[in-house]
Amino acid sequence: MLTVKVASVAKHFNRRPVFADVSFEVRAGEVFGIVGRNGSGKSTLLKIIAGVLTPSRGSVAYELDGVAVPPELLFRSIGFVAPYLMLFDEFSAAENIRLFAGVRGIPCPDSAASALLERVGLPTDREDPVRAFSSGMKQRLKLAFAILHRPPVLLFDEPISNLDSDGVATVHAIIREQRERGCVIIATNDQSDIAQCDRVQAVSSGA
Ligand SMILES: Nc1ncnc2c1ncn2[C@@H]1O[C@H](COP(=O)(O)OP(=O)(O)OP(=O)(O)O)[C@@H](O)[C@H]1O
Ligand SMILES: [Mg+2]
Repeated sequence: MLTVKVASVAKHFNRRPVFADVSFEVRAGEVFGIVGRNGSGKSTLLKIIAGVLTPSRGSVAYELDGVAVPPELLFRSIGFVAPYLMLFDEFSAAENIRLFAGVRGIPCPDSAASALLERVGLPTDREDPVRAFSSGMKQRLKLAFAILHRPPVLLFDEPISNLDSDGVATVHAIIREQRERGCVIIATNDQSDIAQCDRVQAVSSGA
């Protein structure tokens, strides 16, 4: 059983505080929402949970059956979707997936790449580079990267941005399926995302 423990986390950039003293725990089977006004620190908190940013105070721990997951193994445990994540613009969708699989050190035969593209509703036969993709298509590809290695923790920052209703349904289906495998933490203010959550916590500069 995997647990994500966020304990008394605070973040400031230079001297400017973003939030103070955020604590919660998310266990396997749960979908947890982080809400808050624009600029309140949702993305910052998600980056701290992903280990991309360090907190100014407090800690984030991942525990598997009560044993801490070492930081060097964390990237295997996390799938991250966020507006600021980059794609390899000069490569096709399938090439992007194979590149990401390579970075993660997992085998990705053509059939697996095709299955993943189908899962996120992208054509499997497009050879043109991702720079020619629409923003919704790019968002779908980011989703494919996040679920590629079947991680126990999905961290979704505004996961349905730019998606049509079919894409939104795909994201929400992935979130529901993730309950069987682990947990999801979503930063969002979208009501349909919030409806997927078991619990929601607000971040604010007063938090
Ligand atoms: N690298 C950085 N350096 C300095 N300040 C930053 C940095 N990243 C974020 N901030 C500031 O931290 C605050 C929180 O930003 P963040 O992007 O986490 O908010 P958010 O809740 O995700 O907002 P939104 O709803 O618009 O996505 C903002 O005031 C932002 O300007
Ligand atoms: Mg944000």
